[in-house]
Amino acid sequence: MRPPSPPLLILFLLVFPTIIYSATESPASSPSPHSPSPSSPSPSSSPSSPSPSSSPSSPSSSSSSLDPKQLRALQSLNIPISKDPCSRNATLCDSSKPFRHIVSLRLSNCSSYVALSYTALKSLSTLQSLQLLNCPVTPIRFPPELIASLRSFSCVRSLRKVSGVWLSRLENLTDLTVSDVQVKASGPYVILGHMNKLKSLTISRANLTGNLPKYIDSNLTHVDFSVNQLKGSIPTSITMLDGLEHLNLSSNELHGEIPPAIGNLISLKSLSLASNSLSGPIPGSVSAIPGLTHMDLSSNQLNGTIPKFISHMKNLKYLNLANNNLRGVMPFNSTFIKGLTVLKLSGNSNLCYNHSVLSSKLKLGIAPCDKYGMPMSPPPSKESSADDSSDYDDSDEDDNSNKKEHHHGPNKVVLGVAIALSSIVFLIIFLILCSKCCR
Ligand SMILES: *[C@@H]1O[C@H](CO)[C@@H](O)[C@H](O)[C@H]1NC(C)=O
Ligand SMILES: *[C@@H]1O[C@H](CO)[C@@H](O)[C@H](O)[C@H]1NC(C)=O
Ligand SMILES: *[C@@H]1O[C@H](CO)[C@@H](O)[C@H](O)[C@H]1NC(C)=O
Ligand SMILES: *[C@@H]1O[C@H](CO)[C@@H](O)[C@H](O)[C@H]1NC(C)=O
Ligand SMILES: *[C@@H]1O[C@H](CO)[C@@H](O)[C@H](O)[C@H]1NC(C)=O
Ligand SMILES: *[C@@H]1O[C@H](CO)[C@@H](O)[C@H](O)[C@H]1NC(C)=O
Ligand SMILES: *[C@@H]1O[C@H](CO)[C@@H](O)[C@H](O)[C@H]1NC(C)=O
Ligand SMILES: *[C@@H]1O[C@H](CO)[C@@H](O)[C@H](O)[C@H]1NC(C)=O
Ligand SMILES: *[C@@H]1O[C@H](CO)[C@@H](O)[C@H](O)[C@H]1NC(C)=O
Repeated sequence: MRPPSPPLLILFLLVFPTIIYSATESPASSPSPHSPSPSSPSPSSSPSSPSPSSSPSSPSSSSSSLDPKQLRALQSLNIPISKDPCSRNATLCDSSKPFRHIVSLRLSNCSSYVALSYTALKSLSTLQSLQLLNCPVTPIRFPPELIASLRSFSCVRSLRKVSGVWLSRLENLTDLTVSDVQVKASGPYVILGHMNKLKSLTISRANLTGNLPKYIDSNLTHVDFSVNQLKGSIPTSITMLDGLEHLNLSSNELHGEIPPAIGNLISLKSLSLASNSLSGPIPGSVSAIPGLTHMDLSSNQLNGTIPKFISHMKNLKYLNLANNNLRGVMPFNSTFIKGLTVLKLSGNSNLCYNHSVLSSKLKLGIAPCDKYGMPMSPPPSKESSADDSSDYDDSDEDDNSNKKEHHHGPNKVVLGVAIALSSIVFLIIFLILCSKCCR
């Protein structure tokens, strides 16, 4: 049998790898911008480990049982308790003799029969930590003995409504968390006035009004006032908290400029000022904060250019500058961008990237620059192929601007196989031709 003529074979050789190549390309280039959600380290302030000084021990290690007075107090609160309440998860006891005392109590998902009483709380004045989760009990005045001993107080979807004055009495607290509770106060200063031992403060989703305090007398490491109705500007008192690690003022009604002294917060790890009405430039001083890993300034009215010093921030992982009025050439190179887990820039209509430095594959959510540093619009047709078109669609910020989009083109394995196969085919044909010639 005669083998096919050489021209036919050469044609086949040329066409064969191309078929395989284009078959693998189409699925890979289809836009599927579903990037992993930003797994930001959420600095939870909830005092889950109250670490009482008198170390609580497991019931087995101590033969003594709970102080009968405290047992009766627990019973009077109508919380379901077993014979040995110290073995409950939600209760931590010390190991004092002859009777143990409760140092930490967590009430969660309270039934409507639970009611706080002054006498019961007075008997429970050894408590250092009290957590109320989903307990809509009526708030009562705490006895002075309990106020003196309490270090950590947490109230989440509980107590229906609290007043700033009520909270302000808890002067010995180091941890305060109030979340999803209406807090009535003319400003945070009412609550913080005398709490100068406070380290961690969360008052979130509390409809808290007023201004941030002009003067803060405590060494706070964690401040979360997110989702309230705080007004005015960010006072310099905040920038003087040099032990501050987490600052979350997002979703308030703050305006004015971000104070340039924000760079004094040298311990800061995460900063969120998102969803306010802040204006003016991004202070270049933020780039001096060595450990900053998370910065969210999105949804404000920040203007000016992005300080190029931000690209020197070695530890930055999450950067969200979306939905502002930033303009000009975005100063980051691909080395910096690849080091980030999340970068969001969309919703800044005058911001653009230098397309001779950065590839459109990075999906930055902004347009490329023209030679004057202005966004090109409409984008040049040669770049508006199927997998680029979503770059200019700002309607779905989350999908387009997350840059964790690994475009490796067609699957490398398939490509390799295609090349190997065509090489083998070529070899066979070569041998056949050879044998034909030599005959
Ligand atoms: C700031 O607070 C908001 C709303 O409570 C929350 O969604 C966000 O994760 C917080 N940011 C940080 C960095 O903790
Ligand atoms: C109770 O304690 C056990 C073991 O210590 C733990 O696995 C469990 O998650 C705890 N439950 C709650 C609600 O904290
Ligand atoms: C409280 O209720 C919520 C939802 O109803 C549930 O997820 C949670 O595990 C409950 N907590 C406790 C300690 O029972
Ligand atoms: C705070 O605790 C100290 C002892 O640690 C106590 O002397 C003081 O009275 C307490 N403050 C209040 C307001 O109870
Ligand atoms: C805050 O106010 C809004 C509107 O008045 C209300 O719907 C919401 O329930 C309040 N939040 C809390 C935690 O009370
Ligand atoms: C804060 O810390 C400094 C030094 O670490 C200390 O001198 C100062 O008294 C502290 N302030 C308060 C209110 O605890
Ligand atoms: C930024 O906005 C402020 C007013 O909010 C304006 O005074 C300032 O000139 C603007 N800066 C730039 C660089 O556009
Ligand atoms: C990217 O920028 C950083 C900081 O500006 C610089 O150190 C680095 O050399 C740049 N990398 C490239 C590939 O230009
Ligand atoms: C883009 O980068 C190139 C090469 O670094 C530079 O020559 C050009 O001026 C830049 N374009 C703009 C608009 O900044």
